[in-house]
Amino acid sequence: MIKSMRVLVVIVSMLLVFPTWGERPGRAAVSSAHEAATAAGEEILRRGGNAFDAAVAVSAALAVVEPESSGIGGGGFWLLHLAEDNASVMVDGRETAPAAATSDMYLDEEGNVNRDLATNGPLAAGIPGAPAAWVHIAEKYGTLPLGDLLAPAIRLAEEGFEVDAKYQTLLNFRSHVMLRWAETAEIFMPDGDVPELGTRIVQPDLARTLRALAEHGHDGFYRGEVAEKLASGARAEGGIWTLDDLAGYQVIEREPIRTEYQGYELITASPPSSGGIAIAQMLNIIEPFELGELDRVERTHLLSEAMRRAYRDRALYLGDPDFVDIPYDMLLSKHYAAGVRTTIRLDRALESAALAADPARNVVESDNTTHFSLMDSDGNLVSGTLTVNLPFGAAFAAPGTGVLLNNEMDDFAAAPGEPNAFGLIGFEANAIEPGKRMLSSMSPTIVRSDERTAVIGTPGGSRIITMVLLGVLDFIDGNGPESWVSMPRFHHQYLPDEISAERDAFNEDEIAALEALGHEVSIRTRPAGNMHGVMWDRARDTVEAAHDPRWPSGGAVVIEED
Ligand code: DON
Repeated sequence: MIKSMRVLVVIVSMLLVFPTWGERPGRAAVSSAHEAATAAGEEILRRGGNAFDAAVAVSAALAVVEPESSGIGGGGFWLLHLAEDNASVMVDGRETAPAAATSDMYLDEEGNVNRDLATNGPLAAGIPGAPAAWVHIAEKYGTLPLGDLLAPAIRLAEEGFEVDAKYQTLLNFRSHVMLRWAETAEIFMPDGDVPELGTRIVQPDLARTLRALAEHGHDGFYRGEVAEKLASGARAEGGIWTLDDLAGYQVIEREPIRTEYQGYELITASPPSSGGIAIAQMLNIIEPFELGELDRVERTHLLSEAMRRAYRDRALYLGDPDFVDIPYDMLLSKHYAAGVRTTIRLDRALESAALAADPARNVVESDNTTHFSLMDSDGNLVSGTLTVNLPFGAAFAAPGTGVLLNNEMDDFAAAPGEPNAFGLIGFEANAIEPGKRMLSSMSPTIVRSDERTAVIGTPGGSRIITMVLLGVLDFIDGNGPESWVSMPRFHHQYLPDEISAERDAFNEDEIAALEALGHEVSIRTRPAGNMHGVMWDRARDTVEAAHDPRWPSGGAVVIEED
């Protein structure tokens, strides 16, 4: 009784602080990592589809034209906001471990992780969730037939798309693996090498697989001919997928993580993403500080110390909530954050080793995954972050399907304290178990006050969480999406114990000052992330969309109502 009254009080007070939005933006906006995917979303919106229809069209188009980042053989989280009901839900289309997976499946006889098996080829692949999520979103929340929503993607697969700089750059990391499988290489490296800019990539098998999905819905991918080719193709090359694994895959609707920071409500990804909890923790830790009164070094130091502590808790506590008990109340509590805050000194960095977990390793860097932000003219919102994990996933396409498999299994902790491709460590909570979803950093997020709404997210592996944090803080500072997507980024993830910064994030004096506080500052040679944002400012009656300038192939559009 007491508990339900408390829930009621919280809901009533949320309604007072965050009034339901009576007005509509009257304009739609789409921002994604590829112009052709943004155009697919625009096409569906102009035909009268809602944000959820458009999200399916954008996701499927990205799966075709950005195979380095996401795909029908991958997964993702789609955070939906339904304007009419003032309700939000996270569609969890995360991959699952096949039934034959075991906690030591990537360990050799000495107990060392075999990084090749964990990342390359079909043994590295989880059972895909993306196609199930598209069908689910279309059927439950969309208004147009699935076939209409997949039509732009099918067209792009049949007619082809042109190789851009991002495709080229990311394929450079994976081409040596892809060359192990002739049929995969033929699709993505038609001349046997990393293709020239402008080379057309045509995917007839993928078009057929998309058609099967359009025609038969969920079962078009997870049962029947496509499923048979996927399972047998994976098994022929050392994978362990079975028809039952595919037939058993289901998306899960989850309550997003919600938190409140300085009058703004954050609605963000819940486990099996670690992102929402970590972002909420970091905001709770820094809440009493007046960020505006700190200089850049003090602000970076404070944020880095909050990041360090949230990533340590990520490693210890987070995993698939259907398999592990996550201490939500503790991690999300402002009291817990207050306790953590007492361990932060403004004049000195704490060594991560003092927070005890396990050894630091080098991070193999990789920028991949994709994010889109979308709003329709009624104010329905979708923040979607989708992935195949490393560039081009497992670098293996199941013969005859055009489906490039993910290598998401590497997001599990292959051994306790053993870093994955992003240098992230984990323990029991994120150990491999059959049917379990691997912990993710993907953090599709919506932030709103009664005046402004932001839809924000980015790829970037372990860095996703801190990039979204910096973007959210910039939005709360009063800036629009152009600013969030382009601002220089820095990051701390507990281990390795360093601030990792983009080249233009700090000047030499600032680096020296951070070092004097005890931080190691590591400057990245490559840009971090690929953020896409949209914003609705009710007070100024504006809608804005922006894509990350780091990769010019992105597309952002604001669509006026006819
Ligand atoms: O789910 C995750 O956290 C990772 N698979 C995301 C990978 C990613 O963002 C790659 N890009 N840098």
